[in-house]
Amino acid sequence: MEKHKQKRRRGVILSLAGLNKLQEAKYQAEFQVNDGARFTLEELSYRTQLAPFTVSKVLAREEGVDKQTLEYFFRAFGLELTTSDYQRVGNSESGVGNGEETSPNPYPLIPTPYCDWGEAVDVSIFFGRTEELTQLEHWILNDRCRLIVLLGMGGIGKSSLSVKLATQIQTQFEFVVWRSLRNSPSLLDLLTSLLKFFANGQAINLSLNDSNVLQEDATRLRIAKLMEHLRSHRCLIVLDNVESILARHEHSGHYQPGYEDYKELLKQVGETFHQSCVVLTSREKPQEITILEGETLPVRSLHLPGLCTGAALELVRTKSFFCGSDADWQNLIEHYSGNPLALKIIATTIQELFDGDIKEFQTQRTTVFGSIYDLLEQQFYRLSALEKDLMYWLTINREPVTIAELREDLVLPISSMKLLEALDSLSRRNLIEKKSAPQTSVQFTLQPVLMDMLQKFVQRYVVKFRVGGDKDKETRDKGIRRQGTRDKE
Ligand SMILES: Nc1ncnc2c1ncn2[C@@H]1O[C@H](COP(=O)(O)OP(=O)(O)OP(=O)(O)O)[C@@H](O)[C@H]1O
Ligand SMILES: [Mg+2]
Repeated sequence: MEKHKQKRRRGVILSLAGLNKLQEAKYQAEFQVNDGARFTLEELSYRTQLAPFTVSKVLAREEGVDKQTLEYFFRAFGLELTTSDYQRVGNSESGVGNGEETSPNPYPLIPTPYCDWGEAVDVSIFFGRTEELTQLEHWILNDRCRLIVLLGMGGIGKSSLSVKLATQIQTQFEFVVWRSLRNSPSLLDLLTSLLKFFANGQAINLSLNDSNVLQEDATRLRIAKLMEHLRSHRCLIVLDNVESILARHEHSGHYQPGYEDYKELLKQVGETFHQSCVVLTSREKPQEITILEGETLPVRSLHLPGLCTGAALELVRTKSFFCGSDADWQNLIEHYSGNPLALKIIATTIQELFDGDIKEFQTQRTTVFGSIYDLLEQQFYRLSALEKDLMYWLTINREPVTIAELREDLVLPISSMKLLEALDSLSRRNLIEKKSAPQTSVQFTLQPVLMDMLQKFVQRYVVKFRVGGDKDKETRDKGIRRQGTRDKE
Protein backbone atom coordinates (compact mmCIF):
# COMPACT_ATOMS: atom_id res chain seq x y z
CA MET A 1 0.00 0.00 0.00
CA GLU A 2 2.72 2.41 1.10
CA LYS A 3 4.83 1.28 -1.82
CA HIS A 4 1.96 1.98 -4.19
CA LYS A 5 1.63 5.51 -2.83
CA GLN A 6 5.33 6.13 -3.31
CA LYS A 7 5.11 4.90 -6.85
CA ARG A 8 2.22 7.28 -7.62
CA ARG A 9 4.21 10.24 -6.33
CA ARG A 10 7.23 9.76 -8.62
CA GLY A 11 7.72 11.38 -12.01
CA VAL A 12 5.95 14.34 -13.60
CA ILE A 13 2.40 15.28 -14.61
CA LEU A 14 1.12 17.89 -17.04
CA SER A 15 0.78 21.38 -15.61
CA LEU A 16 -2.52 23.15 -16.21
CA ALA A 17 -0.93 25.21 -18.96
CA GLY A 18 0.47 22.05 -20.52
CA LEU A 19 -2.89 20.28 -20.38
CA ASN A 20 -4.63 23.22 -22.03
CA LYS A 21 -2.01 23.39 -24.75
CA LEU A 22 -2.36 19.69 -25.42
CA GLN A 23 -6.18 19.73 -25.36
CA GLU A 24 -6.26 22.67 -27.79
CA ALA A 25 -3.95 20.84 -30.23
CA LYS A 26 -5.95 17.64 -29.82
CA TYR A 27 -9.26 19.39 -30.63
CA GLN A 28 -7.73 21.05 -33.68
CA ALA A 29 -6.51 17.65 -34.88
CA GLU A 30 -9.92 16.10 -34.23
CA PHE A 31 -11.48 18.74 -36.42
CA GLN A 32 -8.90 18.34 -39.15
CA VAL A 33 -8.66 14.58 -39.42
CA ASN A 34 -11.65 13.19 -37.53
CA ASP A 35 -14.59 15.38 -38.66
CA GLY A 36 -14.64 16.94 -35.20
CA ALA A 37 -15.32 13.59 -33.46
CA ARG A 38 -13.31 12.87 -30.35
CA PHE A 39 -10.31 10.52 -30.68
CA THR A 40 -10.89 7.23 -28.94
CA LEU A 41 -8.34 5.93 -26.46
CA GLU A 42 -7.12 3.48 -29.12
CA GLU A 43 -6.69 6.26 -31.68
CA LEU A 44 -4.75 8.33 -29.16
CA SER A 45 -2.62 5.33 -28.35
CA TYR A 46 -1.88 4.74 -32.04
CA ARG A 47 -1.08 8.39 -32.64
CA THR A 48 1.21 8.81 -29.62
CA GLN A 49 2.72 5.30 -29.72
CA LEU A 50 1.96 5.02 -25.99
CA ALA A 51 -0.03 2.27 -24.30
CA PRO A 52 -3.74 3.17 -23.75
CA PHE A 53 -3.15 2.93 -19.99
CA THR A 54 -0.35 5.51 -20.22
CA VAL A 55 -2.50 7.81 -22.36
CA SER A 56 -5.21 7.79 -19.67
CA LYS A 57 -2.60 8.41 -16.98
CA VAL A 58 -1.21 11.46 -18.78
CA LEU A 59 -4.65 13.02 -19.29
CA ALA A 60 -5.88 12.28 -15.75
CA ARG A 61 -2.81 14.08 -14.25
CA GLU A 62 -2.96 12.07 -11.05
CA GLU A 63 -0.05 9.67 -11.37
CA GLY A 64 3.42 10.61 -12.46
CA VAL A 65 4.98 9.49 -15.77
CA ASP A 66 8.43 9.91 -17.35
CA LYS A 67 9.17 13.26 -18.89
CA GLN A 68 9.89 11.43 -22.14
CA THR A 69 6.29 10.11 -22.20
CA LEU A 70 4.99 13.66 -22.18
CA GLU A 71 7.42 14.55 -24.95
CA TYR A 72 6.02 11.71 -27.10
CA PHE A 73 2.49 12.85 -26.41
CA PHE A 74 3.28 16.46 -27.31
CA ARG A 75 5.20 15.53 -30.44
CA ALA A 76 2.24 13.47 -31.68
CA PHE A 77 0.31 16.73 -31.86
CA GLY A 78 3.14 18.81 -33.33
CA LEU A 79 4.03 20.43 -29.98
CA GLU A 80 7.34 20.93 -28.16
CA LEU A 81 7.31 20.17 -24.41
CA THR A 82 8.66 23.11 -22.39
CA THR A 83 9.28 23.36 -18.64
CA SER A 84 6.03 25.26 -18.11
CA ASP A 85 4.07 22.30 -19.49
CA TYR A 86 4.77 19.89 -16.62
CA GLN A 87 5.41 19.69 -12.88
CA ARG A 88 6.52 17.19 -10.31
CA VAL A 89 3.81 15.01 -8.81
CA GLY A 90 2.51 16.19 -5.46
CA ASN A 91 4.03 19.63 -5.89
CA SER A 92 1.62 22.53 -5.79
CA GLU A 93 0.80 24.57 -8.83
CA SER A 94 -0.03 28.26 -8.94
CA GLY A 95 -1.89 28.15 -12.23
CA VAL A 96 1.12 27.91 -14.53
CA GLY A 97 3.54 25.06 -14.41
CA ASN A 98 7.31 25.63 -14.53
CA GLY A 99 8.59 22.13 -14.26
CA GLU A 100 9.11 22.47 -10.51
CA GLU A 101 5.98 24.33 -9.47
CA THR A 102 3.58 23.25 -6.77
CA SER A 103 -0.10 22.99 -5.65
CA PRO A 104 -2.76 20.33 -6.10
CA ASN A 105 -4.71 20.70 -9.32
CA PRO A 106 -7.50 23.22 -8.46
CA TYR A 107 -9.95 21.73 -10.97
CA PRO A 108 -8.98 18.25 -12.06
CA LEU A 109 -10.84 17.22 -15.20
CA ILE A 110 -12.12 14.00 -13.71
CA PRO A 111 -13.92 13.37 -11.39
CA THR A 112 -14.52 16.69 -9.61
CA PRO A 113 -15.57 19.48 -11.95
CA TYR A 114 -16.29 22.93 -10.58
CA CYS A 115 -20.12 23.13 -10.58
CA ASP A 116 -22.84 25.67 -9.98
CA TRP A 117 -26.30 24.14 -10.31
CA GLY A 118 -28.20 27.41 -9.70
CA GLU A 119 -31.92 26.66 -9.34
CA ALA A 120 -31.71 23.35 -11.18
CA VAL A 121 -34.64 21.05 -10.38
CA ASP A 122 -34.26 17.83 -8.43
CA VAL A 123 -34.14 14.86 -10.79
CA SER A 124 -33.91 12.08 -8.24
CA ILE A 125 -37.26 10.82 -9.57
CA PHE A 126 -36.73 10.52 -13.29
CA PHE A 127 -38.06 7.96 -15.77
CA GLY A 128 -37.29 7.01 -19.34
CA ARG A 129 -35.55 9.34 -21.81
CA THR A 130 -32.80 6.77 -22.39
CA GLU A 131 -32.79 7.40 -26.13
CA GLU A 132 -32.66 11.16 -25.77
CA LEU A 133 -29.89 10.99 -23.16
CA THR A 134 -27.83 8.66 -25.35
CA GLN A 135 -28.28 10.89 -28.36
CA LEU A 136 -27.40 14.06 -26.47
CA GLU A 137 -24.33 12.46 -24.87
CA HIS A 138 -23.20 11.36 -28.30
CA TRP A 139 -23.67 14.84 -29.72
CA ILE A 140 -21.76 16.45 -26.87
CA LEU A 141 -19.00 13.96 -26.14
CA ASN A 142 -18.39 12.32 -29.51
CA ASP A 143 -19.51 14.91 -32.03
CA ARG A 144 -18.34 17.78 -29.84
CA CYS A 145 -21.37 19.92 -30.50
CA ARG A 146 -20.97 23.49 -29.32
CA LEU A 147 -24.61 24.56 -29.11
CA ILE A 148 -27.64 22.35 -28.52
CA VAL A 149 -31.28 23.31 -28.00
CA LEU A 150 -33.84 21.12 -26.28
CA LEU A 151 -37.25 22.11 -27.62
CA GLY A 152 -40.72 21.16 -26.56
CA MET A 153 -44.00 22.42 -25.22
CA GLY A 154 -44.47 23.48 -21.59
CA GLY A 155 -44.21 20.63 -19.10
CA ILE A 156 -42.76 18.12 -21.56
CA GLY A 157 -39.60 17.73 -19.43
CA LYS A 158 -36.93 19.98 -20.99
CA SER A 159 -35.56 21.36 -17.72
CA SER A 160 -35.54 17.94 -16.07
CA LEU A 161 -33.75 16.37 -19.00
CA SER A 162 -31.17 19.16 -19.10
CA VAL A 163 -30.32 18.59 -15.43
CA LYS A 164 -30.19 14.82 -15.83
CA LEU A 165 -27.93 15.19 -18.86
CA ALA A 166 -25.59 17.62 -17.12
CA THR A 167 -25.28 15.42 -14.02
CA GLN A 168 -24.52 12.38 -16.17
CA ILE A 169 -21.73 14.00 -18.16
CA GLN A 170 -20.35 16.46 -15.60
CA THR A 171 -17.11 14.57 -15.09
CA GLN A 172 -16.18 15.24 -18.70
CA PHE A 173 -15.99 18.97 -17.98
CA GLU A 174 -13.85 21.29 -15.93
CA PHE A 175 -16.78 23.65 -15.29
CA VAL A 176 -20.52 22.98 -15.21
CA VAL A 177 -23.00 25.79 -14.74
CA TRP A 178 -26.82 25.77 -14.94
CA ARG A 179 -28.80 29.02 -15.17
CA SER A 180 -32.47 29.78 -15.69
CA LEU A 181 -33.50 32.76 -17.84
CA ARG A 182 -37.05 32.64 -16.44
CA ASN A 183 -36.68 36.14 -14.96
CA SER A 184 -35.34 37.47 -18.27
CA PRO A 185 -31.90 38.65 -17.11
CA SER A 186 -30.13 41.11 -19.40
CA LEU A 187 -27.26 39.56 -21.29
CA LEU A 188 -24.86 41.73 -19.34
CA ASP A 189 -26.16 40.36 -16.03
CA LEU A 190 -26.00 36.80 -17.27
CA LEU A 191 -22.45 37.19 -18.54
CA THR A 192 -21.37 38.80 -15.31
CA SER A 193 -22.83 35.94 -13.30
CA LEU A 194 -21.16 33.32 -15.51
CA LEU A 195 -17.79 35.07 -15.48
CA LYS A 196 -17.90 35.49 -11.71
CA PHE A 197 -18.51 31.77 -11.38
CA PHE A 198 -15.60 30.97 -13.69
CA ALA A 199 -13.39 33.47 -11.86
CA ASN A 200 -14.11 31.78 -8.53
CA GLY A 201 -12.80 28.63 -10.10
CA GLN A 202 -9.57 30.63 -10.38
CA ALA A 203 -9.33 30.02 -14.07
CA ILE A 204 -9.59 33.63 -15.13
CA ASN A 205 -8.55 36.89 -13.72
CA LEU A 206 -11.74 38.89 -14.07
CA SER A 207 -11.81 42.63 -13.74
CA LEU A 208 -15.46 43.67 -13.60
CA ASN A 209 -14.60 47.23 -12.81
CA ASP A 210 -15.80 48.64 -16.08
CA SER A 211 -18.29 51.27 -14.87
CA ASN A 212 -16.80 53.80 -17.29
CA VAL A 213 -17.52 51.72 -20.37
CA LEU A 214 -20.77 51.90 -22.32
CA GLN A 215 -23.17 49.03 -21.68
CA GLU A 216 -22.80 47.88 -25.28
CA ASP A 217 -19.03 47.75 -24.99
CA ALA A 218 -19.22 46.06 -21.61
CA THR A 219 -21.44 43.34 -23.11
CA ARG A 220 -19.11 42.92 -26.08
CA LEU A 221 -16.07 42.67 -23.81
CA ARG A 222 -17.74 40.10 -21.64
CA ILE A 223 -18.84 37.99 -24.59
CA ALA A 224 -15.18 38.04 -25.69
CA LYS A 225 -14.06 37.08 -22.18
CA LEU A 226 -16.56 34.25 -22.02
CA MET A 227 -15.53 32.95 -25.44
CA GLU A 228 -11.89 33.04 -24.37
CA HIS A 229 -12.85 30.91 -21.39
CA LEU A 230 -14.86 28.48 -23.51
CA ARG A 231 -11.84 28.08 -25.75
CA SER A 232 -9.28 27.46 -23.04
CA HIS A 233 -11.46 25.29 -20.78
CA ARG A 234 -13.98 22.55 -21.32
CA CYS A 235 -17.19 24.01 -19.90
CA LEU A 236 -20.81 22.93 -19.94
CA ILE A 237 -23.31 25.78 -19.67
CA VAL A 238 -27.05 25.09 -19.50
CA LEU A 239 -29.40 28.02 -20.08
CA ASP A 240 -32.97 27.07 -19.22
CA ASN A 241 -36.22 28.82 -20.28
CA VAL A 242 -34.78 30.69 -23.23
CA GLU A 243 -38.34 31.47 -24.41
CA SER A 244 -38.46 34.07 -21.59
CA ILE A 245 -36.26 36.41 -23.62
CA LEU A 246 -38.15 35.82 -26.88
CA ALA A 247 -40.88 38.17 -28.06
CA ARG A 248 -44.56 37.49 -27.55
CA HIS A 249 -47.27 37.99 -30.16
CA GLU A 250 -44.78 37.75 -33.00
CA HIS A 251 -43.61 34.94 -35.18
CA SER A 252 -41.54 32.69 -32.98
CA GLY A 253 -37.83 32.94 -32.42
CA HIS A 254 -37.45 36.74 -32.34
CA TYR A 255 -36.02 38.45 -29.29
CA GLN A 256 -37.83 40.81 -26.97
CA PRO A 257 -36.73 44.41 -27.36
CA GLY A 258 -33.59 44.87 -25.28
CA TYR A 259 -32.56 41.21 -25.59
CA GLU A 260 -31.30 41.20 -29.18
CA ASP A 261 -27.70 41.00 -27.98
CA TYR A 262 -28.29 37.35 -26.98
CA LYS A 263 -28.25 36.71 -30.72
CA GLU A 264 -24.58 37.67 -30.88
CA LEU A 265 -23.72 35.38 -27.97
CA LEU A 266 -25.46 32.38 -29.55
CA LYS A 267 -23.89 33.15 -32.91
CA GLN A 268 -20.40 33.18 -31.44
CA VAL A 269 -21.00 30.04 -29.38
CA GLY A 270 -22.29 28.23 -32.46
CA GLU A 271 -19.97 29.58 -35.11
CA THR A 272 -16.53 29.95 -33.56
CA PHE A 273 -14.12 27.25 -32.49
CA HIS A 274 -14.01 26.34 -28.77
CA GLN A 275 -13.99 23.22 -26.63
CA SER A 276 -17.16 23.80 -24.60
CA CYS A 277 -20.87 23.16 -24.99
CA VAL A 278 -23.87 25.39 -24.34
CA VAL A 279 -27.23 23.63 -23.93
CA LEU A 280 -30.40 25.71 -24.18
CA THR A 281 -33.94 24.68 -23.31
CA SER A 282 -36.83 26.54 -24.88
CA ARG A 283 -40.46 26.25 -25.88
CA GLU A 284 -39.54 28.07 -29.08
CA LYS A 285 -36.54 27.84 -31.33
CA PRO A 286 -34.44 31.03 -31.40
CA GLN A 287 -34.03 32.16 -34.99
CA GLU A 288 -30.29 31.84 -35.38
CA ILE A 289 -30.43 28.20 -34.34
CA THR A 290 -32.46 27.56 -37.51
CA ILE A 291 -29.71 29.24 -39.51
CA LEU A 292 -26.75 27.58 -37.76
CA GLU A 293 -27.99 24.04 -37.13
CA GLY A 294 -27.42 20.91 -39.19
CA GLU A 295 -27.20 17.15 -38.74
CA THR A 296 -23.43 17.13 -39.14
CA LEU A 297 -22.80 20.62 -37.80
CA PRO A 298 -21.86 21.47 -34.21
CA VAL A 299 -25.20 23.21 -33.66
CA ARG A 300 -28.21 20.93 -33.24
CA SER A 301 -31.69 20.88 -31.81
CA LEU A 302 -33.67 18.07 -30.27
CA HIS A 303 -37.43 18.21 -30.26
CA LEU A 304 -38.65 16.44 -27.13
CA PRO A 305 -41.68 14.22 -27.52
CA GLY A 306 -43.68 13.07 -24.50
CA LEU A 307 -42.54 10.22 -22.29
CA CYS A 308 -42.90 6.72 -23.73
CA THR A 309 -45.78 4.70 -22.26
CA GLY A 310 -43.55 2.66 -19.94
CA ALA A 311 -41.91 5.73 -18.39
CA ALA A 312 -45.23 7.59 -18.19
CA LEU A 313 -46.80 4.64 -16.36
CA GLU A 314 -43.92 4.60 -13.90
CA LEU A 315 -44.42 8.32 -13.37
CA VAL A 316 -48.14 8.13 -12.61
CA ARG A 317 -47.66 5.07 -10.45
CA THR A 318 -45.33 7.06 -8.17
CA LYS A 319 -48.26 9.34 -7.35
CA SER A 320 -50.44 6.71 -5.74
CA PHE A 321 -51.95 3.27 -5.99
CA PHE A 322 -54.78 3.81 -8.38
CA CYS A 323 -57.65 1.66 -9.28
CA GLY A 324 -57.55 1.37 -13.01
CA SER A 325 -55.51 -0.85 -15.22
CA ASP A 326 -52.47 0.05 -17.26
CA ALA A 327 -54.77 0.00 -20.28
CA ASP A 328 -56.97 2.73 -18.73
CA TRP A 329 -53.89 4.78 -18.10
CA GLN A 330 -52.55 4.21 -21.58
CA ASN A 331 -55.55 6.07 -22.97
CA LEU A 332 -54.87 9.07 -20.75
CA ILE A 333 -51.15 8.95 -21.50
CA GLU A 334 -51.91 9.04 -25.22
CA HIS A 335 -54.45 11.77 -24.75
CA TYR A 336 -51.87 13.97 -23.04
CA SER A 337 -49.14 12.93 -25.51
CA GLY A 338 -47.01 11.63 -22.61
CA ASN A 339 -46.60 15.16 -21.21
CA PRO A 340 -45.17 14.47 -17.72
CA LEU A 341 -46.46 17.68 -16.17
CA ALA A 342 -49.97 17.05 -17.46
CA LEU A 343 -49.83 13.45 -16.24
CA LYS A 344 -48.61 14.45 -12.79
CA ILE A 345 -51.47 16.93 -12.45
CA ILE A 346 -54.01 14.40 -13.67
CA ALA A 347 -52.68 11.69 -11.36
CA THR A 348 -52.96 14.00 -8.35
CA THR A 349 -56.47 15.05 -9.33
CA ILE A 350 -57.64 11.48 -9.78
CA GLN A 351 -56.21 10.64 -6.42
CA GLU A 352 -57.65 13.62 -4.57
CA LEU A 353 -61.01 14.19 -6.25
CA PHE A 354 -61.88 10.72 -7.44
CA ASP A 355 -60.30 8.58 -4.72
CA GLY A 356 -57.94 7.14 -7.26
CA ASP A 357 -60.79 5.93 -9.47
CA ILE A 358 -59.62 6.54 -13.00
CA LYS A 359 -62.90 5.25 -14.51
CA GLU A 360 -64.88 7.77 -12.50
CA PHE A 361 -62.55 10.51 -13.69
CA GLN A 362 -62.97 9.43 -17.30
CA THR A 363 -66.75 9.52 -17.05
CA GLN A 364 -66.50 13.23 -16.13
CA ARG A 365 -64.90 13.81 -19.56
CA THR A 366 -63.01 16.80 -18.25
CA THR A 367 -59.48 16.71 -19.43
CA VAL A 368 -58.49 20.34 -19.25
CA PHE A 369 -58.56 22.06 -15.91
CA GLY A 370 -56.39 23.80 -13.34
CA SER A 371 -52.71 24.00 -13.98
CA ILE A 372 -52.65 22.33 -17.39
CA TYR A 373 -55.11 24.88 -18.56
CA ASP A 374 -52.92 27.68 -17.18
CA LEU A 375 -49.93 26.13 -18.80
CA LEU A 376 -51.53 25.98 -22.22
CA GLU A 377 -53.10 29.39 -21.87
CA GLN A 378 -49.64 30.88 -21.29
CA GLN A 379 -48.52 29.41 -24.59
CA PHE A 380 -51.63 30.57 -26.43
CA TYR A 381 -51.29 34.09 -25.06
CA ARG A 382 -47.98 34.52 -26.88
CA LEU A 383 -49.42 33.98 -30.36
CA SER A 384 -50.03 36.50 -33.14
CA ALA A 385 -53.62 37.03 -34.37
CA LEU A 386 -53.08 34.86 -37.47
CA GLU A 387 -51.48 32.11 -35.40
CA LYS A 388 -54.50 32.13 -33.08
CA ASP A 389 -56.85 31.91 -36.07
CA LEU A 390 -54.97 28.92 -37.37
CA MET A 391 -55.12 27.25 -33.98
CA TYR A 392 -58.89 27.74 -33.90
CA TRP A 393 -59.27 26.24 -37.35
CA LEU A 394 -57.08 23.29 -36.48
CA THR A 395 -59.35 22.76 -33.47
CA ILE A 396 -62.54 23.05 -35.55
CA ASN A 397 -61.14 20.62 -38.11
CA ARG A 398 -59.91 18.13 -35.50
CA GLU A 399 -58.47 15.87 -38.20
CA PRO A 400 -55.09 16.79 -39.74
CA VAL A 401 -55.53 19.24 -42.64
CA THR A 402 -53.36 20.40 -45.52
CA ILE A 403 -52.16 23.95 -46.07
CA ALA A 404 -54.63 24.32 -48.94
CA GLU A 405 -57.52 23.30 -46.68
CA LEU A 406 -56.40 25.74 -44.02
CA ARG A 407 -56.16 28.56 -46.56
CA GLU A 408 -59.71 27.74 -47.68
CA ASP A 409 -60.86 27.82 -44.06
CA LEU A 410 -59.39 31.21 -43.43
CA VAL A 411 -61.06 32.78 -46.47
CA LEU A 412 -59.51 36.10 -45.52
CA PRO A 413 -56.98 37.14 -48.14
CA ILE A 414 -53.81 35.80 -46.57
CA SER A 415 -50.76 35.43 -48.80
CA SER A 416 -49.17 31.98 -49.00
CA MET A 417 -46.02 33.48 -47.59
CA LYS A 418 -47.78 34.75 -44.46
CA LEU A 419 -49.63 31.49 -44.00
CA LEU A 420 -46.45 29.45 -44.30
CA GLU A 421 -44.64 31.77 -41.93
CA ALA A 422 -47.40 31.43 -39.33
CA LEU A 423 -47.46 27.62 -39.64
CA ASP A 424 -43.70 27.49 -39.41
CA SER A 425 -43.82 29.69 -36.34
CA LEU A 426 -46.47 27.49 -34.66
CA SER A 427 -44.43 24.45 -35.46
CA ARG A 428 -41.32 26.02 -33.92
CA ARG A 429 -43.36 26.80 -30.82
CA ASN A 430 -44.19 23.08 -30.70
CA LEU A 431 -47.90 23.77 -30.68
CA ILE A 432 -48.80 22.04 -33.90
CA GLU A 433 -47.77 18.69 -35.26
CA LYS A 434 -46.78 18.12 -38.84
CA LYS A 435 -47.78 14.82 -40.39
CA SER A 436 -46.37 13.68 -43.67
CA ALA A 437 -46.97 10.39 -45.44
CA PRO A 438 -45.56 9.27 -48.79
CA GLN A 439 -47.39 10.75 -51.78
CA THR A 440 -49.62 12.99 -49.69
CA SER A 441 -49.36 16.67 -48.90
CA VAL A 442 -48.08 17.66 -45.49
CA GLN A 443 -50.87 17.95 -42.95
CA PHE A 444 -51.11 19.85 -39.72
CA THR A 445 -52.91 19.17 -36.48
CA LEU A 446 -52.81 20.10 -32.78
CA GLN A 447 -51.70 18.24 -29.70
CA PRO A 448 -54.93 16.62 -28.39
CA VAL A 449 -54.78 18.43 -25.07
CA LEU A 450 -54.50 21.78 -26.85
CA MET A 451 -57.53 20.92 -28.92
CA ASP A 452 -59.47 20.32 -25.74
CA MET A 453 -58.45 23.64 -24.34
CA LEU A 454 -59.25 25.57 -27.50
CA GLN A 455 -62.59 23.84 -27.86
CA LYS A 456 -63.77 26.12 -25.07
CA PHE A 457 -62.86 29.20 -27.08
CA VAL A 458 -64.06 28.00 -30.44
CA GLN A 459 -67.68 28.71 -29.65
CA ARG A 460 -66.74 32.26 -28.73
CA TYR A 461 -64.62 32.55 -31.86
CA VAL A 462 -67.55 31.50 -34.00
CA VAL A 463 -69.83 33.93 -32.17
CA LYS A 464 -67.33 36.69 -32.87
CA PHE A 465 -67.81 36.02 -36.55
CA ARG A 466 -71.57 35.99 -36.04
CA VAL A 467 -71.37 39.71 -35.26
CA GLY A 468 -68.56 40.34 -37.76
CA GLY A 469 -68.93 42.14 -41.09
CA ASP A 470 -69.93 40.56 -44.43
CA LYS A 471 -66.32 39.86 -45.24
CA ASP A 472 -66.29 37.19 -42.56
CA LYS A 473 -69.62 35.67 -43.47
CA GLU A 474 -68.25 32.70 -45.34
CA THR A 475 -65.77 31.91 -42.58
CA ARG A 476 -68.45 32.31 -39.97
CA ASP A 477 -70.90 30.02 -41.74
CA LYS A 478 -68.27 27.40 -42.25
CA GLY A 479 -67.20 27.60 -38.61
CA ILE A 480 -70.77 27.32 -37.37
CA ARG A 481 -71.46 24.44 -39.77
CA ARG A 482 -68.40 22.50 -38.70
CA GLN A 483 -68.90 23.30 -35.04
CA GLY A 484 -72.47 22.06 -35.31
CA THR A 485 -71.22 18.82 -36.77
CA ARG A 486 -68.72 18.39 -33.93
CA ASP A 487 -71.35 19.09 -31.30
CA LYS A 488 -73.49 16.27 -32.66
CA GLU A 489 -70.60 13.80 -32.62
N1 LIG B 1 -38.41 11.97 -17.28
C1 LIG B 1 -39.13 12.39 -16.25
N2 LIG B 1 -39.39 11.58 -15.19
C2 LIG B 1 -40.12 12.01 -14.15
N3 LIG B 1 -40.67 13.25 -14.06
C3 LIG B 1 -40.47 14.09 -15.07
C4 LIG B 1 -39.68 13.73 -16.21
N4 LIG B 1 -39.64 14.78 -17.06
C5 LIG B 1 -40.34 15.75 -16.47
N5 LIG B 1 -40.85 15.35 -15.29
C6 LIG B 1 -41.68 16.15 -14.38
O1 LIG B 1 -42.62 16.86 -15.16
C7 LIG B 1 -42.74 18.21 -14.76
C8 LIG B 1 -42.41 19.13 -15.92
O2 LIG B 1 -41.06 18.95 -16.29
P1 LIG B 1 -40.12 20.17 -16.67
O3 LIG B 1 -40.28 21.29 -15.70
O4 LIG B 1 -38.77 19.62 -16.89
O5 LIG B 1 -40.80 20.61 -18.05
P2 LIG B 1 -40.36 21.78 -19.02
O6 LIG B 1 -40.44 21.22 -20.40
O7 LIG B 1 -39.06 22.32 -18.60
O8 LIG B 1 -41.53 22.83 -18.83
P3 LIG B 1 -41.52 24.42 -19.04
O9 LIG B 1 -41.54 24.67 -20.52
O10 LIG B 1 -42.79 24.87 -18.38
O11 LIG B 1 -40.29 24.95 -18.40
C9 LIG B 1 -41.81 18.37 -13.57
O12 LIG B 1 -42.57 18.26 -12.40
C10 LIG B 1 -40.84 17.21 -13.68
O13 LIG B 1 -40.42 16.78 -12.43
MG1 LIG C 1 -38.54 24.17 -17.83
